Amino acid sequence: MNSLIDTYTLNNGVKIPVVGFGTWQTPAGAVAKVAVKSALSSGYRHIDTAEMYGNEQSVGAAVKESGISRHSLFITSKLNNGAHDYQAATAAIEQSLKDLQLSTLDLFLIHWPNPKPFRTDNWEKRLQETWRALEDAYRAGKIRAIGVSNFRKRHFEILKETQTIVPMVNQIRICPGDLDTETISYCQQNQILLEAYSPLGTGEIFSDKTLQALAKKNKRTVAQICLRWSLQHHFLPLPKSIHEERIEENTKLFDFTLSEQDMTTIDQLDGIVGYAADPDTVNF
Ligand SMILES: NC(=O)c1ccc[n+]([C@@H]2O[C@H](COP(=O)([O-])OP(=O)(O)OC[C@H]3O[C@@H](n4cnc5c(N)ncnc54)[C@H](OP(=O)(O)O)[C@@H]3O)[C@@H](O)[C@H]2O)c1
Repeated sequence: MNSLIDTYTLNNGVKIPVVGFGTWQTPAGAVAKVAVKSALSSGYRHIDTAEMYGNEQSVGAAVKESGISRHSLFITSKLNNGAHDYQAATAAIEQSLKDLQLSTLDLFLIHWPNPKPFRTDNWEKRLQETWRALEDAYRAGKIRAIGVSNFRKRHFEILKETQTIVPMVNQIRICPGDLDTETISYCQQNQILLEAYSPLGTGEIFSDKTLQALAKKNKRTVAQICLRWSLQHHFLPLPKSIHEERIEENTKLFDFTLSEQDMTTIDQLDGIVGYAADPDTVNF
């Protein structure tokens, strides 16, 4: 792995750049446009957005204005939680394409398995119908790859009852201190690529003393140590920043390697920035 444009290959053969640029909590408008353009100038070719982030139009405008060939870009969006049925999901895909000014999305994910409003209203059936909408959009060529987010084994088992396509991706929270080994093993055994969201603990990881010491020892920053750790585990990290110098810093991951001992030290940092919310009980 030598650069941001190196790729993993999804279980349908589609290639996906090994690092993606996150945009959650990046305000729509000028901030999002400048951030995405900075990321593209720094060499990112993979952008992660979602209907829920409210910035798809700005991301789409930045991509278009960058002038970079569409074929060299990888754009992901995600289904909003209110759209868990066949028709709503189909309409949401069309809306994301429109807002992003794209004719095809590279990856589209179900954002959460069982949003709160549906948890007592046959969420399993809704999830299966929602997945069917993604499968149909995939077959119609509107999306090059389909996947899920915040799924654990039990949610995959629900999909499995009716799916005709195995998800290509599961996007979950993975950062030093938060390794959901059961979900990770399940995805690895089933050729489902793991994208690591909040790879910097949503900005809370920087005060950890062990990571600071490893950064000093390796002559790198804490962010670079966390992202390199993610890559060496064969996860796909999605760092977010709105600051140009940090966006650039987070790309410098390919001129050093963490030793096995450093990897183990980081693996053992249990709970330093808390754990992912349980999708079955989270309050949304
Ligand atoms: N599927 C899901 O449910 C889900 C959930 C959460 C996130 N995600 C995706 O994953 C992406 C990343 O996760 P995240 O947004 O939670 O956060 P993150 O990437 O773990 O951390 C971002 C935070 O760290 C700061 N930061 C970034 N680089 C830095 C550096 N080099 N030095 C110091 N501070 C730095 C950023 O500040 P500034 O921006 O101010 O620079 C921001 O506060 C999201 O943007 C989104 O695309 C998906």
